[in-house]
Amino acid sequence: MENPFEILIQVVDLWKVFGAPPSTDCYEAEALVKQGNNGMVCAVRDVSFQVRRGEVFVIMGLSGSGKSTLIRCFARLIEPTSGQILVNGKDIVSMRDQSLTEFRRREIAMVFQHYGLLPHRTVLENVHFGLKLRGENRTTREEKAMQVIEKVGLSGWENHYPHQLSGGMRQRVGIARALVQDTEILLMDEPFSGLDPLIKREMQDELLRLQKEFHKTIIFVTHDLSEALRLGSRMAVMKEGSFVQVGTPGEIVADPADDYVRRFVHDERKLVHLQEGKVEHLSKKRDQLQSLTNAMP
Ligand SMILES: Nc1ncnc2c1ncn2[C@@H]1O[C@H](COP(=O)(O)OP(=O)(O)O)[C@@H](O)[C@H]1O
Ligand SMILES: [Mg+2]
Repeated sequence: MENPFEILIQVVDLWKVFGAPPSTDCYEAEALVKQGNNGMVCAVRDVSFQVRRGEVFVIMGLSGSGKSTLIRCFARLIEPTSGQILVNGKDIVSMRDQSLTEFRRREIAMVFQHYGLLPHRTVLENVHFGLKLRGENRTTREEKAMQVIEKVGLSGWENHYPHQLSGGMRQRVGIARALVQDTEILLMDEPFSGLDPLIKREMQDELLRLQKEFHKTIIFVTHDLSEALRLGSRMAVMKEGSFVQVGTPGEIVADPADDYVRRFVHDERKLVHLQEGKVEHLSKKRDQLQSLTNAMP
């Protein structure tokens, strides 16, 4: 049995300064950025945290706070300026060539907000495409793809094309494509942000259900606190490239670290009150209707 508290990912002093010349000292770069316009952007500033095996770690913050930059560093889609990202003790920032390619193919899979599906390929082909790069034969690829297509509730849709699917269904394909890779780590960058509220909720439930079965280690990015609270085992609140607070959803709501976090929590409470108010209003209406019906001869 795996130890659930085991640290799988450890991020140490990670920085990404866009536009920085090679071997820049990031603290100096930050000071320069603060002084004014010099073409550099400090998107991730000295971030350190740990992710335990099997948890859903949520990174939440306003648009522009650096969430996508940070999560992309895990797949080296963006090169960090300095710092380390240790996965199972191996630093992926210093990985080169073959070991980096292998790491990308076998240890992480990513789900994006805009699905990133191949438009001229069917659902089935989209799902098994990644396995082709690993050199698996067509029959095995298709068998594995069919299994995950069923898991995400898309049986019967395997020969359809992305444009024939709704947004929620497209993202189910995105999730299937990530699951089929059978990687331990799943990176999800605002996967449900483009969906209608009801579908979004349905997809969150779906993710929780799949997580019970697959026990992935998930890094999930969102700008939506209620989504973070629903999905996160633990979460970090990000602001202007830095982590301002890390904790369980309960800890963040009970004890916001500063005004930025407090504002998120406050808005969330207002929303909950609003929804409760709506439910109360609707149930009053239903009672009124009921008594009218009862009074009818
Ligand atoms: N390729 C890039 N070059 C320069 N600046 C960038 C680049 N990508 C992102 N940024 C900047 O980095 C900051 C963080 O962006 P991003 O990571 O996309 O934030 P988020 O995902 O939280 O909305 C923003 O100020 C953004 O404009
Ligand atoms: Mg983003």
